[in-house]
Amino acid sequence: MPSVLSRLDAAAREAFESLGFPGNIAAVRESDRGDAPYQCNGAMAAAGIAKKRGEKVNPRDIAAQAVEIMQANSAMGQLEIAGPGFINIAPADDLLTARAEQLLENPADGLNVETPKTIIVDYGGANVAKPMHVGHLRSAVIGEAIKRILRAQGHNVIGDVHMGDWGLQMGHLISELADEQPDLPYFDEAYEGDYPAEPPVTMDDLARLYPQASNKAKVNAERMDISRVATAELQAGRRGYRALLDHFIDVSVAALKVGYGNLGVEFDLWKGEACVDPLIPGMIEELKTAGITEEDDGALIINVDDKWDSETRTGTPPVMLLASSGAVLYHTTDLATLVDRKAENNPDLIVYVVDQRQALHFEQVFRAAAKAGWYAREQMFHAGFGTMNGKDGKPFKTREGGVLRLEDLMQIMHTAARDRLESSGVGAEFDAEERDEIARKIGLAALKFADLQNQRMTNYIFDPERFTAFEGKTGPYLLYAVVRIKSILRKAAEQNVVSGKIAVEAETEKGLVLSLDAYARAIELAADKYAPHILCEHVYRVAQSFSRFYAECPILADDVAAEVKASRLSLAKAALAQLEHGLDLLAIEAPDRM
Ligand code: ARG
Repeated sequence: MPSVLSRLDAAAREAFESLGFPGNIAAVRESDRGDAPYQCNGAMAAAGIAKKRGEKVNPRDIAAQAVEIMQANSAMGQLEIAGPGFINIAPADDLLTARAEQLLENPADGLNVETPKTIIVDYGGANVAKPMHVGHLRSAVIGEAIKRILRAQGHNVIGDVHMGDWGLQMGHLISELADEQPDLPYFDEAYEGDYPAEPPVTMDDLARLYPQASNKAKVNAERMDISRVATAELQAGRRGYRALLDHFIDVSVAALKVGYGNLGVEFDLWKGEACVDPLIPGMIEELKTAGITEEDDGALIINVDDKWDSETRTGTPPVMLLASSGAVLYHTTDLATLVDRKAENNPDLIVYVVDQRQALHFEQVFRAAAKAGWYAREQMFHAGFGTMNGKDGKPFKTREGGVLRLEDLMQIMHTAARDRLESSGVGAEFDAEERDEIARKIGLAALKFADLQNQRMTNYIFDPERFTAFEGKTGPYLLYAVVRIKSILRKAAEQNVVSGKIAVEAETEKGLVLSLDAYARAIELAADKYAPHILCEHVYRVAQSFSRFYAECPILADDVAAEVKASRLSLAKAALAQLEHGLDLLAIEAPDRM
């Protein structure tokens, strides 16, 4: 069943068309004046058109004619002409009731697109061996929401973590391990046997070895060279180093699965830069044969902008396929990944959810892939995002000035939520274990909602106090709304009150149904713009509409007639179903009670 708004919209367009005007001037939209839920301003535009045709008509007269036609449509309720010719529109009560029944039956009604696509969402992007930090948080949270929103529309969506596992950090790790444990068979070039199945390191070792090496290399050029050589040898295929790389990746993936899992983020593919390495020589040959590569000071490049001027450095700089040392670069692995994806998944679209500071990198890669003829430029989209900042307005750091680890950040949120529960007395009646689990969920919801409700590109300030508030546009407010409805449903079951036929009567009931009605539109907009904040806005609005409804329309009070109870209970169920559906798309999980 189409949404209420689309029914009204179609009726208004038809009316204006039958009066000889183009339908698109009659678009119905939510009213910004409080007198009716919707408005149509077509009469003003129609009068303008009539004037151009040399007719002199008053917009109010056109509005009156349109209203007369629209009135005959069963979707229409009260219609009213205001001011110079605005048409205020309320939908028919029957339509609202039918729509409510339907949303109760299927909260995801109307979300599906006509032609589903195969879409890869590239997000997460953690680096092997380096612990995940807050920079990866936004990618994981935003990417997961975008993936779920697109999936809710019926697309075939594949989430790929695209780990960073092919850079200098590998050379650092290998050479540092060689220093600590030179007798391992991986370093013996003469060794021809099988390597041990057990990794020689733990995640803690990796987390220690990497900064150890990189700190040394920062102040010691010779130590840096050793790491560079190790990286080059690895990339050239040195057997022992490849075996070490596989161990490092296995150990890191196991740890990353835990980290992302705690965050409620799941990937379909655990691929990375290293796994496309075998494709690189063939890809480079192909690009050379296609005649789109050039030598530049010993490096191999692809020009992606005719207007690029290397003197003034204006325009888009070329893609670097191979450095003059022969080393493979970030451009190269991303291009090879595009080749791999084409062969493996043949996606219609690839969305990269990566820090906006990498915008130029993606622009270059996309142009090169289009120039090679692998994809059309619009099949690749970089959904960038701003940074999470500290109160000083700079990217968030620990008190010591280092990058904050994801797990520490989650701990901060957990603690903030626990404090909030304590100070507000919420959940005081539950045992310590349940309270702690509730605090964990609130902390996560607070963090995710605070992140997702911003437009992607804006930077925001990390403020656990504000994020965990129960009032205002926050994660905890939404969890509270969900838990409150769940508790009403539990009480109803105890009192043997059953839900039944819906009759939408009170203004706040109408308001609630119209809020629910806007879901499909919100999902469509959020998907088109890769903008989870639009969905956040929607669920917040539903929660508020429910609150208003429940304040005016008690469900279980003694003086409420049985069939009214049944109807209101159904509305509460419909609201809960949609809130849970929407929050799930944001990967936000609510407790059963709190
Ligand atoms: N590993 C990269 C980083 O930490 C992010 C990877 C993003 N995805 C991509 N296809 N380049 O900056």
